[in-house]
Amino acid sequence: MALGICRAVLITGCSRGIGLGLVRGLLARSPAPDLVIATCRNPDQAQELQQLKEQHQSLRVLQLDIVCEDSIRKVVRETEALVGEKGLNCLINNAGINRIATLDSVTAQDMLTIYETNTVAQLMVSKAFLPLLRKAACQDAIMGIHRAAIINVSSRSASMQLFFQNKKSEEVYPYRIAKTALNMITCCLAADLMSDGILCISLEPGWVKTDMGGSKAPLQLKETIPGILNVLANLREKDHGAFLDWKGEVLPW
Ligand SMILES: NC(=O)c1ccc[n+]([C@@H]2O[C@H](COP(=O)([O-])OP(=O)(O)OC[C@H]3O[C@@H](n4cnc5c(N)ncnc54)[C@H](OP(=O)(O)O)[C@@H]3O)[C@@H](O)[C@H]2O)c1
Repeated sequence: MALGICRAVLITGCSRGIGLGLVRGLLARSPAPDLVIATCRNPDQAQELQQLKEQHQSLRVLQLDIVCEDSIRKVVRETEALVGEKGLNCLINNAGINRIATLDSVTAQDMLTIYETNTVAQLMVSKAFLPLLRKAACQDAIMGIHRAAIINVSSRSASMQLFFQNKKSEEVYPYRIAKTALNMITCCLAADLMSDGILCISLEPGWVKTDMGGSKAPLQLKETIPGILNVLANLREKDHGAFLDWKGEVLPW
């Protein structure tokens, strides 16, 4: 199934890193989605996105700070005006933050800040876009991103089972805990949205060289983005509620 069949996609955190890579990758697909809505905190400062906008009529750049309720409400209204009665097919909750915090150094504020951005915000953004996702879901019968989907960008480090296999506690307490909670959001959404036909997954994008992934990451965006887009394009009902990596492998919770 080609991604062009997904009419309208919205991605959070597109100023750089994986979000920007996904925007580039989607625009380069043939056929490409009719509408790629790239959101970011500061559109005026997102120069690469602005340059892409000049080259692609199908790209819209909207402001969204995922931890700001007013910003969420505004972007939903703006998206509604763009997508109309056909609704939004695919929401990619990509924006996220990380910081080093060991058992010794972690603070309550670290925990709350990262939980707010990597977990609470994903739920609030998903909730706000539900009416537009439901509109899109009404127009098809087979589950997939061509119909309606929520993609939560998670992390391998969130897997409890993999943790018990490796027993290696990286120095990112708040991050991996928040991403584990995000995975539970995926499970809850999958249960609640099955009857609406809105497909929900958690996606591990690979350890990639970005500001967050760092220079030691083994993968480049040019390797993982095509993989991620293929995984998304091939999602079907059997994948609903799954935790998948960028190659389409199922990860244990
Ligand atoms: N890179 C990896 O190896 C890796 C591995 C596993 C999972 N992930 C996950 O993949 C996603 C993207 O990571 P990345 O490597 O691309 O990270 P990144 O290079 O640090 O980029 C993070 C993006 O999130 C945005 N963001 C942060 N807080 C935001 C907020 N409150 N509202 C809106 N946007 C916000 C940033 O915007 P600003 O420019 O405005 O700060 C930026 O665009 C994250 O969810 C991350 O946890 C990454």
